[in-house]
Amino acid sequence: MASCRKFFVGGNWKMNGRKNCLGELICILNSAKLPADVEVVCAPPSAYIDFTRQNLIPKIAVAAQNCYKAPNGAFTGEISPGMIIDLGATWVILGHSERRHIFGESDELIGQKVAHALTEGLGVIACIGEKLDEREAGITEEVVFKQTNAIAANVKDWSKVVLAYEPVWAIGTGKVATPQQAQEIHEKLRGWLQCNVCEMVAKSTRIIYGGSVTGATCRELASQPDVDGFLVGGASLKPEFVDIINAKQ
Ligand code: 13P
Repeated sequence: MASCRKFFVGGNWKMNGRKNCLGELICILNSAKLPADVEVVCAPPSAYIDFTRQNLIPKIAVAAQNCYKAPNGAFTGEISPGMIIDLGATWVILGHSERRHIFGESDELIGQKVAHALTEGLGVIACIGEKLDEREAGITEEVVFKQTNAIAANVKDWSKVVLAYEPVWAIGTGKVATPQQAQEIHEKLRGWLQCNVCEMVAKSTRIIYGGSVTGATCRELASQPDVDGFLVGGASLKPEFVDIINAKQ
């Protein structure tokens, strides 16, 4: 049953916003009804982590959208988990499909980032998901299990990890997975955790869905037994994000 897992809703703002419009969004979130039994995390662009953390109510956590695998050094353009923590953020999104497919991040690099972020004390929203051609070729499970394996090999404490299933064909396309499609893969991922990690981790790890989630589609998705929340892109920049946070209410 999903009841032992706290519902988790993340807003991935991607490379969007400026102080004025993010400030407006933050005001809406600060005055919104946030149920006590939902964990809410917002992921601004790294340039606005400090601004977001300073202005958002403490009940809403802040995440970075990426980080590097080392604490310091000659890595121009990168930010480290230590810097993210220094700004008051507590989570990082890793392995997002845009990092994998636009910036060429490998399973190996994502695994190293997961290991370092967890060691430094960040919670990790670890993303996996198949591309359309992979789904059409019938290899969805194979793809997401391989991605999950590369992440799991670097996790010691699963209480700091949320697994985000984000089918690439559903991201930013308006083509949301059906509740049955999401449930099917979430259930299989939980089975994978059971076989390859342990029953306790399988039962307690939140598996959230991402890909064109909206206020209109969130309730039915949230009613699925293995859907423990959402990672929201476009709709997290709109007042509708509050409806998604309240999808289970
Ligand atoms: P959309 O909700 O815009 O499809 O994006 C999903 C996503 O990539 C969240 O990380």
